[in-house]
This record gives sequence, structure tokens and C-alpha cells, in this order.
Amino acid sequence: MSKLYIVGIGPGSREYLTLKAIKAVESSDMVIGSPRALDLFDDVEVDQRELGTENMKTMLEFAVSRVREGKSVSLLSTGDPGFSGVLKPVLKLSGDIELEVIPGISSVQMCASKLQIPWDDADLVTLHGKGISNDILKVLDNGRPTIILPDFKVNELANYLLKEGFDPGRRVAVCEKLSYSDEKVMTITLKDILDYEFSYMCVMVVY
Ligand SMILES: C[S@@+](CC[C@H](N)C(=O)[O-])C[C@H]1O[C@@H](n2cnc3c(N)ncnc32)[C@H](O)[C@@H]1O
Repeated sequence: MSKLYIVGIGPGSREYLTLKAIKAVESSDMVIGSPRALDLFDDVEVDQRELGTENMKTMLEFAVSRVREGKSVSLLSTGDPGFSGVLKPVLKLSGDIELEVIPGISSVQMCASKLQIPWDDADLVTLHGKGISNDILKVLDNGRPTIILPDFKVNELANYLLKEGFDPGRRVAVCEKLSYSDEKVMTITLKDILDYEFSYMCVMVVY
């Protein structure tokens, strides 16, 4: 039966891929994902198509149209599809086709594990694709750690917080490239962030 699988692939390393995700891809006629997501399935013989920020809408519509034509398609989402992932945009255009969401380990969960933060004691905030908004200021001083997906740049977020008057010595953590061989987990101060160059693949915690 034709279906659109929205597949969470976890933080990126094969070790965190679920068997359910692998089975969904293996049973699909086509798999669509970012290059780093597709890399995880380079041993699976299935039609593979690349998805990027520039062709996101076109590829999501393409995926839905293939399902309407009777095919099964796996759409890969890094981490979990429901947290700043592809679930939200897909729901806007999928109409009545059959969907199955396969959860993945979010970068936020992975960050909480690395830093040993029970995440029921934390606030989760995503700025990804939204820009920095003053809303974040409301949670940062409530005594709980805030786990943040920055809007691509950790350094910009640190600069913003410093300009808003946050203590330069405030304890923060940056988890970069979680699960990859060059993963970095650093617990530093807010001002120390400016001494480093981080990639877009970061989760930040403000304690
Ligand atoms: C489009 S959002 C996807 C979030 C994803 N759905 C999740 O649950 O982790 C992409 C952002 O997630 C974070 N991210 C994804 N994978 C990561 C990793 N392996 N290490 C650190 N951050 C990661 C980064 O902030 C990146 O810019």
C-alpha cells in the first residue's frame, strides 16, 4: 500500500538509527533526504533524491505526488521529525494520503544525555529557521536549564544574549556534531563562545 513514511534518522551516526527507520526505507520505492541523511542508506538499493533548504517545498510536493501515484516514499528528517523537522511542513500539504511518522533520537535528547540533564527539568526551545526572538528571554532566568536549537549560529545567539545584558560568565554548553567522530561537547561561559567558530550543527544549553 502506498504511504509516506516520515523517518527520523537520529543525530547522524548509524549507531543511532532505529531498525524501524531502516525497514521503512528498505520497503520504499523512493527515499528523499539531505546528503548527510542519505549517506546512512548508501547500501540500500532504492531511488534516492536530495532534499535541501532551497528545494524543500518542491521535493515535499514531489514526495506527496509520488504517494498519490501509488508509490511508497520515505522522507528522511534528521533527529526527530516532530521537532523542527519535516513533519510540520508535510502536514500542510499532505491532504488525505497515508502517513506514518517514525520517531528518531532528537539532537536535543542526545544533548541532554551527553550533559546528563534530566530533560523533564529543562525547557526546550527551537529558534531554527525562525531567527532570534525576544521570547527566549522569558525562559532563560527561570532556574531551569534551557536546551536551544539556535537559528544556525551559536555565536550570534551568544552575542544577542550579551547585548541583552546576560552575565558574560553565565554557564553554557555547546554540543556540536553530536554522534559524529568529530563531536564536541563543551561547558564554558557565555563570553567564551565568541572565542570559537561553530558549525550550524550545534545544540546550546544555557544553565
Ligand atoms: C532542521 S533542525 C532539525 C532538528 C531535528 N529534527 C532534531 O530533532 O534534532 C537542524 C538543527 O538541529 C541541530 N542538530 C541536528 N543534528 C545535530 C547534531 N548531530 N549535533 C548537533 N546539533 C544537531 C542543529 O541545531 C541543526 O541546525
